[in-house]
Amino acid sequence: MGGTKKDYIKALKIDLKFQLEKLNIKRGDIRSIFIGGGTPSTISSIQYRDILKTLKPFLKQNSEITIEANPNSASKDWLNGMFELGVNRISFGVQSFDSKKLKTLNRRHSAKEAILAVENASKVGFKNISIDLIYGLAYDTKELLKEDIKIAFDLPINHISTYELTIEKNTKFSQTPNMKKDDENLGYFIRDEIVKRGFKWYEVSNYGKYQSIHNIGYWQLKEYIGVGAGAVGFLRNKRLYSSNNILEYIKNPIKREIEELSQENILMERIFLGLRSRVGIPKEILNSNMQKRANILVKENKLKIENGIYKNINYFLSDELALFLLD
Ligand SMILES: C[S@@+](CC[C@H](N)C(=O)[O-])C[C@H]1O[C@@H](n2cnc3c(N)ncnc32)[C@H](O)[C@@H]1O
Repeated sequence: MGGTKKDYIKALKIDLKFQLEKLNIKRGDIRSIFIGGGTPSTISSIQYRDILKTLKPFLKQNSEITIEANPNSASKDWLNGMFELGVNRISFGVQSFDSKKLKTLNRRHSAKEAILAVENASKVGFKNISIDLIYGLAYDTKELLKEDIKIAFDLPINHISTYELTIEKNTKFSQTPNMKKDDENLGYFIRDEIVKRGFKWYEVSNYGKYQSIHNIGYWQLKEYIGVGAGAVGFLRNKRLYSSNNILEYIKNPIKREIEELSQENILMERIFLGLRSRVGIPKEILNSNMQKRANILVKENKLKIENGIYKNINYFLSDELALFLLD
């Protein structure tokens, strides 16, 4: 394996051991692990062995261990290797099964490779299999999206994430912004197609017979450790950022930029994340004015209240409802 990858894994192990010690993490403290960002499936499963061995003593029973993978680099051997290391959830960055769309999205895999990777994951033993689909390209049609969803449901998956295309600065699409189509009906169409096939809508982009523990933990603002280049951690109202630059990270893996979050920041995040997902907002965290506003939304059937928690009914409206509460 090339020098940088080797040095990177070495740096990652140093960082992980340092964080576990510094934060005094105990047996059974860790509920979920998410191996993502970049392309984890380009690193051989053997390279993950020591990392997962280091984490194992700290895992809670039945913890969820997810790895993200790209269909073109997730061979059956790699999938088998990850499954044998105890990884029990796999999320494939499929994006679409439409070859023209895959080309536009600059993805290196074909629809056939994506289908094979998902089937292989099931064959080696994965029960929790998720795929990502992207929508909102200029030439997206309901027919194209319906076909993507139909193919997805013919596969052994129990979770789907659907992301509306966002154009980030300095990316290929920032040169061709007209590649994006702003049509909120597409989101509703996708939701209805997925829900009618039996998956529960539990967050604005996420559906499943299975709901990801790690993702729900984010939306509940649970604490988490981030290790690796570009990783983010959240501990005691602080966000901790590792260097985005791989070489800098290798030089000093335990270095963190720290962002202190005020009580107000935390409250806003709990409101936005709570309304985007099934998590909701506990009544007691809202001040009286916000509670008055939330009760107006309950009267308008935009929110419901369950066991003292305000729950959103339509996650696509989450941001505007949050702004109304915060007004
Ligand atoms: C957010 S994570 C996926 C987490 C996974 N769905 C899970 O449940 O564990 C990575 C995914 O983000 C999506 N994504 C990446 N860049 C994007 C962009 N510019 N616009 C929209 N979605 C994007 C892709 O679908 C990619 O596979």
